[in-house]
Amino acid sequence: MKKIKKIGILTSGGDAPGMNAAIRSVVRTGIHYGYEMYGIYHGYDGLVSGEIEKLEARDVSGILQKGGTKLKTSRCPAFLEKDTRDIARSMCKVFGIDVVVVIGGDGSYRGALALANEGLPVVCIPGTIDNDIGCTDYTIGFDTALNTVQDAIDKIRDTAYSHERCYVIEVMGRNAGYIALNNGIAGGADAILIPEEPFNINDVIKIIIEGRNRGKDDFTIIVAEGVKNAQDICALIEENTGIISRYTILGYVQRGGSPSAYDRVMASRMGDLAIKTINQNNLNKIISLKNNQLVAQDIDEALKMTKTIDKEMLEVAKILSI
Ligand code: ADP
Ligand code: F6P
Repeated sequence: MKKIKKIGILTSGGDAPGMNAAIRSVVRTGIHYGYEMYGIYHGYDGLVSGEIEKLEARDVSGILQKGGTKLKTSRCPAFLEKDTRDIARSMCKVFGIDVVVVIGGDGSYRGALALANEGLPVVCIPGTIDNDIGCTDYTIGFDTALNTVQDAIDKIRDTAYSHERCYVIEVMGRNAGYIALNNGIAGGADAILIPEEPFNINDVIKIIIEGRNRGKDDFTIIVAEGVKNAQDICALIEENTGIISRYTILGYVQRGGSPSAYDRVMASRMGDLAIKTINQNNLNKIISLKNNQLVAQDIDEALKMTKTIDKEMLEVAKILSI
């Protein structure tokens, strides 16, 4: 087996707070173990075009507490084509890169799996605010996003209380409801609408009417972006309940900001394990959190795994919103 000397690192897909902490950890742990570390800019785009530079320990100073990603990121549709990935693999040969660490979501993992199958070893670290990757209980950025959303919900609830209105708050999550479910509970929502559960506007209207009959004056409805747009839901609520209703789409604010302590620690530990895994010649792995333990799983097996929303959390939210 060829001795690994040079390791590349890239971030891909939607950025997430804590990606920088993971980059810092991978680079410094890599240097600690004697590897040469290379930053690949703009995700898979940069792997194809050769936007690659050597990173020293000091190059990742001052980024631990910063949101976004120092290495920039991209969506690179061309990477679905083998011809494009062939260029990426050739580029790695040019720079002498033996392994690429990919920080991103499950789309980025599929790109990494294709590279692995075609002969370029990879190790992946989960980075997305959505927490929607089947093989891991946690993805870097999720905790920070929850705290950002929480701050927004708390502020909106102040005005909902004062005006006795209904607020519909749309949160991110692509096709998953993890952000909505957690912030719905933490924010005391009257209803939480997630893609994993069938959506019926009449159920929401009933919750609001019954709540009003029990003496509630204001309402908070959390909707995950994968359900239906907040504006339409808001209009239907106002039309059918007579309660003045407003909507807020939190949008990209959820992806930014200084990572929480939890995200920094998780990113640092995952980066460390990624390098230790490479150091043991364990390649084509995904670093995951499973039952509170960090593990390195085979990428092809890991990508087949699914995870499901804890429906009991919906029940908790329902009981607590009486
Ligand atoms: P995320 O990694 O956050 O889920 P995307 O789904 O946008 O974000 O994926 C990021 C990038 O990963 C895509 O722009 C593309 O370059 C690459 N990618 C996604 N799916 C595949 C695939 N099936 N084959 C090869 N590359 C892929
Ligand atoms: O995956 C992170 C995420 O922010 C999702 O929650 C959202 O659906 C998507 O990315 C938005 O992507 P874009 O930056 O391409 O608009």
